[in-house]
Amino acid sequence: MSAQLINDVKTTFIETFKTDPILIFSPGRINIIGEHTDYNDGFVFPAAVDKGIAAAMQKSDSNVSTAYAMDKDSHIEFELDKLKPSAQGSWENYVFGVVAEIQNRNKVIGNFNIVFRGDIPGGAGMSSSAALENSVVFGLNELFDLGLTKHDMILISQKAEHNYVGVKCGIMDQYASMFGIENNALLLDCRTVESEAYEIDFKDHELMLINTNVKHNLSDSAYNDRRSACESIAELLGIKALRDATEADLDTIKDKVTSENYQKALYVIQENNRAEKASKAIKENDLDTLGALIFQSHDGLQHQYKVSCEELDFLVDQAKANEHVLGARMMGGGFGGCTINLIAKSEAKAFGEAASIAYKNKFNKACSVYYIKLSQGTHLVN
Ligand code: GLA
Repeated sequence: MSAQLINDVKTTFIETFKTDPILIFSPGRINIIGEHTDYNDGFVFPAAVDKGIAAAMQKSDSNVSTAYAMDKDSHIEFELDKLKPSAQGSWENYVFGVVAEIQNRNKVIGNFNIVFRGDIPGGAGMSSSAALENSVVFGLNELFDLGLTKHDMILISQKAEHNYVGVKCGIMDQYASMFGIENNALLLDCRTVESEAYEIDFKDHELMLINTNVKHNLSDSAYNDRRSACESIAELLGIKALRDATEADLDTIKDKVTSENYQKALYVIQENNRAEKASKAIKENDLDTLGALIFQSHDGLQHQYKVSCEELDFLVDQAKANEHVLGARMMGGGFGGCTINLIAKSEAKAFGEAASIAYKNKFNKACSVYYIKLSQGTHLVN
């Protein structure tokens, strides 16, 4: 967590509202493996990181509430009983959505002010949106004594994303951001919404991210389309979710679905198996197997699930060509954002530099390399 970030929101809050706020840090996340499996009730393997959103919040006597997004230098006033979604893509939908979903649960809140800023760029595939939603719900729960559990809070954040942001996301991002544990990744069963913590110490290897710094349009609608394709195939199979299907089950309806949708469902079934295999590999410290599974995951996301893009594929190809990278893949929803790389510590810097030069030559724009620390979930800062 960046002390600078916390200090920035605190100082700005006090200057603007002349009162002391409570301070919240809510992290973004990585995901080792298990992509697009969460809304299929499957397994994912995320971890909270030391980057995210810092928020300063306090109750207000005014008859309106105010939210100030420091990074965008944009502020908005709103009335709690007149909330509706703003235009798609507006940052305030994350705040409005959480407030509205809290009220939908018949919880009563009063007016409040919030100032926030972050150190993960939107579109990086690191869940800056879940981090923001979680910071808002966590802060409101504190300020107004709402008695919400962490499980309640992540469901509120997820609903905000569904109903105000318009992305029918699974639960991975909100869960990882809220429940993160320092130095651990969480093997999360998205059906039970319970996780097992795995201490991550890859000895002479580490995880490194490279952000393509692109976010392609239509990624939200492509995401929702894939979710509904998965749901319709599950329905055809007569099961609750694709998590319950085997490849053999899928073959029984092969001639009833398009070959594109068959490949998508096959990807989900295989990726879910990979997430479980990866957890065994981590337990046994078998990094070669883990790396191979990560490369296979990308292959499926690129060719079967079709949520990758040229820039991500290029960075994964760079990784494949480097013997010190054991595995690399796109991370998060796709169509841009980061790759996650399992790499020898001693070679990380050199690979980051080489990949950056190659990326610049190819696309005439810069990518960004991030070193991350697995960190604690959403919490109050003193
Ligand atoms: C986004 C969603 C998550 C998950 C990932 C893909 O980050 O918010 O719920 O579906 O994409 O694994």
